[in-house]
Amino acid sequence: MANLAGIKTIGVLTSGGDAPGMNAAIRSVVRTARFNKIEVKGVLKGFSGLMNNTVTKMTLRNVSGTLQRGGTILHTARCPEFIEDAGVEIAKQNCLDLGIDGLVVIGGDGSFRGARDLSLKGIPCIGIPATIDNDIASTEYTIGFDTAVNTVIQTIDKLRDTSESHNRCSVVEVMGNACGDIAITAAICCGAECVLVPELKFDLEKDVIGMMTRSLEIGKSHFIVIVAEGVARSAFGKGRLSSSEILANYIEQRTGVETRSTVIGHVQRGGAPTMRDRILASEMGNYAVELLMNGSSNRVVASVQNKIVDMDIYEALQMKSEVDIDLLRIFNQIS
Ligand code: F6P
Repeated sequence: MANLAGIKTIGVLTSGGDAPGMNAAIRSVVRTARFNKIEVKGVLKGFSGLMNNTVTKMTLRNVSGTLQRGGTILHTARCPEFIEDAGVEIAKQNCLDLGIDGLVVIGGDGSFRGARDLSLKGIPCIGIPATIDNDIASTEYTIGFDTAVNTVIQTIDKLRDTSESHNRCSVVEVMGNACGDIAITAAICCGAECVLVPELKFDLEKDVIGMMTRSLEIGKSHFIVIVAEGVARSAFGKGRLSSSEILANYIEQRTGVETRSTVIGHVQRGGAPTMRDRILASEMGNYAVELLMNGSSNRVVASVQNKIVDMDIYEALQMKSEVDIDLLRIFNQIS
């Protein structure tokens, strides 16, 4: 592809929570840029690195051996200062001083807001969606989601072994922020008996206790109840016990089934990316550099019906992430 915009140097950063596949995206950005004779500067620790001028030259060698590694070699951070105009202004000036003609921002919707604000100041920015939560409405898949769900599946399969052996119920809390995609997908893949997601109202007595009581009557003796963290945070309160412990105690008391709780936690964010995340990251990194070469700015890359496309960041940020009704319908029929 021709470098119509005459881009000489691009910057790349990762921001927000890390996600498996971020390194594959960085590698794709660096290698695509170098293939097109464009210099790359890696910005360390997200937008804060852009404000503090902590950048490093990226070469083909810097990214070799990184494709299969979880985390992000550029490190990441959440940067509250970047919400203020003064912070964005400093970053813009640093980009100009460093000769950065365009920036690729790899992260979630908070990172996209930073990219939008910097684009408004005249620095061309392209966002690549990477978060385990899959909560970005403009894309069907975010980088990291597939790997995180696979980690959850492996963990719940193990919990199933012990729950079954002891005739117990396991309450399992999974990540996802305000989005239930990890929970629903894992629920189908692990044959969970119940899943609670923040997008949908539920009735604890009917949907959990009632379901378990009916199942006990027909001889079922072990249960997996998956709770998305968005539900755990809001529905079961905070205190000395974790929210899923509170739910586990309640289930045990109401049903008589011995119940344990497990919060899978940050292990969901680590590990080698799956094939799906490596491919998605490689495609999106390549596409982002081509957008900059084409003179685009203020765009996000997305996967829609298995094709890599792009759209305006404003438009993308307006879109509302919705629960996958089809997956829920299937879960309700086959659980
Ligand atoms: O956005 C990814 C995510 O892992 C969410 O699922 C979770 O709510 C949050 O980040 C945890 O953030 P931290 O790493 O700051 O504890």
